Amino acid sequence: MKKLIHSISAVPLLAATLLAVLPQTGITAGGGAELEHFTPVRTDRALQRGARTFVNYCQGCHTAEYQRYSRLAADIGISEIDMSANMIFTTDTEGKPTKVGSLMTNNMSSDYAKKAFGVVPPNLALVSRSRGVDWLYTYMKSFYLDESRPLGANNTVYPNVGMPHVLADLQGWHKPVYEDDGAGHSVLKGFQQVTAGTLSPDEYDSTISDLVSFLDYLGDPNREARHSLGIKVMLFLLLFLVLAILLKKEYWKDIPHN
Ligand code: HEC
Repeated sequence: MKKLIHSISAVPLLAATLLAVLPQTGITAGGGAELEHFTPVRTDRALQRGARTFVNYCQGCHTAEYQRYSRLAADIGISEIDMSANMIFTTDTEGKPTKVGSLMTNNMSSDYAKKAFGVVPPNLALVSRSRGVDWLYTYMKSFYLDESRPLGANNTVYPNVGMPHVLADLQGWHKPVYEDDGAGHSVLKGFQQVTAGTLSPDEYDSTISDLVSFLDYLGDPNREARHSLGIKVMLFLLLFLVLAILLKKEYWKDIPHN
């Protein structure tokens, strides 16, 4: 019997261990390049800038289909009127401007995307969950000039990626520099700038920081609200504990202890 109980309790333990390990394997997979650590910023300003980059540079190909513009407007502190005027560039099936209550889709058909890129660019609403923010941050900084690729770009984090370097105007072009690690493997040492972009390297980093913070927000829009509710619940439980202890003392005070 004891043995049976032991083996039963081992199952959830094993499942928990697997769950703890699996997402990390997913995050580190791909390209073998080292990932830069990134901590997302959840301020309105950062998310507004990130959203601006997303609708201008990404949404032509990608969607963020679980998110509505109106919800985004409320969450990042802008009005629905400003959202409609400045951040919605798509049209609905009748050719009218997309309404602010709509999901953040785009107008690219799957057929066209397959012809142009070989794959349909994925919905990015949950990509921060599947890839992790470190991966995204490093990925967006790791496109490089590679004439052998159909779209002229490759990526050290995602080798032979089907996506072009859409931010090349901002970042310019760079090439990876490899060095020998002493054991016969060439490892990525860094990048060498080939042509300059309109942004300085620091400005580009901060653009990517805002963009990945925005993708992180998309993957979990309720996180802030959940955390602040969690703290309130914990405070309530603490207060309730004090009251319960006082009440218990009151109830038991006339009963003799023996
Ligand atoms: C011109 C079309 C195009 C644009 C614009 C574009 N992408 Fe992509 N993106 C792609 C395609 C195609 C893929 C699939 C690549 C593959 O699987 O080889 C992709 C893949 C990705 C992936 C990897 C997803 C995954 O988990 O495999 C991320 C992340 C991504 N894009 C982010 C962005 C961001 C952020 C922007 C805006 C700065 C952007 N993309 C703009 C075409 C585009």
